[in-house]
Amino acid sequence: MRVLGIETSCDETGIAVYDKQAGLLANQLYSQIKLHADYGGVVPELASRDHVRKIVPLIQAALREANLSATDINGVAYTAGPGLVGALLVGATVGRALAFAWNVPAVPVHHMEGHLLSPMLEDNPPAFPFVALLISGGHTQLISVTDIGKYELLGESIDDAAGEAFDKIAKLLGLDYPGGPMLSKMAQHGVTNRFTFPRPMTDRPGLDFSFSGLKTFAANTIRSNGSDDQTCADIARAFEDAVVDTLAIKCERALEKTGFKNLVMAGGVSANRTLRTKMVAMMHKRGAEVFYARLQFCTDNGAMIAYAGMVRLKSSADQELSVSVRPRWPLAELPAV
Ligand code: KG4
Ligand code: ZN
Repeated sequence: MRVLGIETSCDETGIAVYDKQAGLLANQLYSQIKLHADYGGVVPELASRDHVRKIVPLIQAALREANLSATDINGVAYTAGPGLVGALLVGATVGRALAFAWNVPAVPVHHMEGHLLSPMLEDNPPAFPFVALLISGGHTQLISVTDIGKYELLGESIDDAAGEAFDKIAKLLGLDYPGGPMLSKMAQHGVTNRFTFPRPMTDRPGLDFSFSGLKTFAANTIRSNGSDDQTCADIARAFEDAVVDTLAIKCERALEKTGFKNLVMAGGVSANRTLRTKMVAMMHKRGAEVFYARLQFCTDNGAMIAYAGMVRLKSSADQELSVSVRPRWPLAELPAV
């Protein structure tokens, strides 16, 4: 069985083909970063229009890469939410239309389930149950995962998502959107402990997160210490350390609470090297493992959507012609497979 995956929830057009036996056969990505850079963030209308321009050529490129024709595809999976409504509609409309024309089922995929299952694309996939830390530009969530589709929300951010916080502090440090990866690079030159930032909500029980206070703390630190290169790097170091520590503390709590051994990290921020190092060390100490995808599958991509679609195609193939997307869509509402 071969599934074409389509991802258009935000500022990346991702197209992939996943084969149940052979694995990933094609993976095409077009990032709109340059398009939005001048605006300091994603402009939804520009994002939708660019998906319209790129989606069909990328699908053609993916089929060429996989050396397949349309008749070799057994299902079309597309991101149906959460995300930007106009951007989602591009992928959903093209996905439904292709499925109709090719006479195969179309499968709406939850973007965060795509992220959550992305480590399954690797050679050493995690076994159920596990705790999942989903950390992207729009979400920071801890999920108890007992099987595919059996998700229980343990905690989440009450304000900014981790990636959003990275991007906002990066902006204050003069870095372009999305600044998360560049802030992390800058932090490598920073002096540890010149500044110490708070670890929000770790001094009380619970698994929720809050990152907006860190933003104010960083802004005040920049204001009162200037912004020469070394100071910026030191602030980046302090910020990254605070986020990484906070995430690690909450993950350990979630593992204690559930009694699960293993941890999965997914979403754009799981590409962060300091975070990976910290989590590997923490899990090693616990005699367990942390699982994450290769860097290109941490940020948005079509491969994770094709994979999640393949898993869901078995149970919920539907042939409806209507196109609907869900800009807001709680992960825990998904049915079990
Ligand atoms: O999962 P993703 O590609 O898109 C969403 O679904 O939101 O995540 C994008 C987020 C951005 O906020 C970006 O700055 C952040 O992930 N990010 C990172 C790193 N790479 C991506 N944040 C910190 N360190 C990184 N290396
Ligand atoms: Zn994402």
